[in-house]
Amino acid sequence: MRIQKILATFTIAALLLSACATATTAPETSAAPEAGAKKTYADMTMCYPQLGAESDWRTANTASFKETAEELGFKLIFSDAQQKQENQISAMRACIQQGVDVIALPPVVEDGWDAVLTEAKNAGIPVIIVDRSVSADESLYASHIGSDMKLEGERAAEEFNKQFPDGAKILELSGTTGSGAAVGRAEGFRAKLNENIEIIDSQTGNFTRAEALPVMQAFLKKYEAGTDFQGIFIHNDDMGIGAIEALKAAGVKPGDLFIVSVDGTRGGFQAMIDGWFQADVECNPLLGPQVAEMALKLINGETIDREVLTNETVYYPDQAEELLPTRKY
Ligand code: AHR
Repeated sequence: MRIQKILATFTIAALLLSACATATTAPETSAAPEAGAKKTYADMTMCYPQLGAESDWRTANTASFKETAEELGFKLIFSDAQQKQENQISAMRACIQQGVDVIALPPVVEDGWDAVLTEAKNAGIPVIIVDRSVSADESLYASHIGSDMKLEGERAAEEFNKQFPDGAKILELSGTTGSGAAVGRAEGFRAKLNENIEIIDSQTGNFTRAEALPVMQAFLKKYEAGTDFQGIFIHNDDMGIGAIEALKAAGVKPGDLFIVSVDGTRGGFQAMIDGWFQADVECNPLLGPQVAEMALKLINGETIDREVLTNETVYYPDQAEELLPTRKY
């Protein structure tokens, strides 16, 4: 009887001990986040189907996304569409298949996104439109973060209005046809340009140095610099640098023409120092941190702004020397 009592006491003690052990270890072994816990950057996979590598601006934009992913610790699925919309669409479809958390899309052109944006929406993947705009219905994407391209065009026009109060004839070297950047800049430029300033010709250089060079050469065959036209509005610095090559070869000197470009890259600053550009309208490519912050909010179901426009300015030759060493792109 005594032995039975001792055994029963041991059994109860052992049961109590094992119960205590279970109770203390349980929270330590539960690695899964609590239901409703906020996701962090470590939980996030972002798809970035970059549109290409056409300019120094684009190179800086790519670097901004890659560096941001590295610093914040999220996974970035990056691809380069080589300025082809069909490549961007294929890259997006691959990301949808993989079930990424968010897609950040810098669209090469404005039109033609409805189908793939609908696919992303149906898959429950939010899309942030980055840099250039799309013409698709707003219900198909979460937000747009980028520059006000129309305002950039208006700012360029103001420079020509100041320079030529008595009127002038000018040329336009435009960006990729159908892109939000080219459409917005052309629209803003025309809306603000004084009536006595005539755009005698406008051709695209597709935002690249290589394509701008022959376009400028063709312009110079058709029109005499200084006589037939007094200025050029160029939609980005890379095309400006290509155009300068053609101008130099034709014997045009810095300052013979009034040239306004867009971007504010180091190349653009150098062109101001060298006397070729008289103003450079800023377009900021360093969008990675802002887009990442918005993406995290989105995957946590937080409210975000439908449109976030970058705060930008205009740079002039008298600041160029001092600012060039501080430029990040
Ligand atoms: O969409 C932004 C534009 O694209 C930049 O002005 C240009 O340099 C780039 O290629």
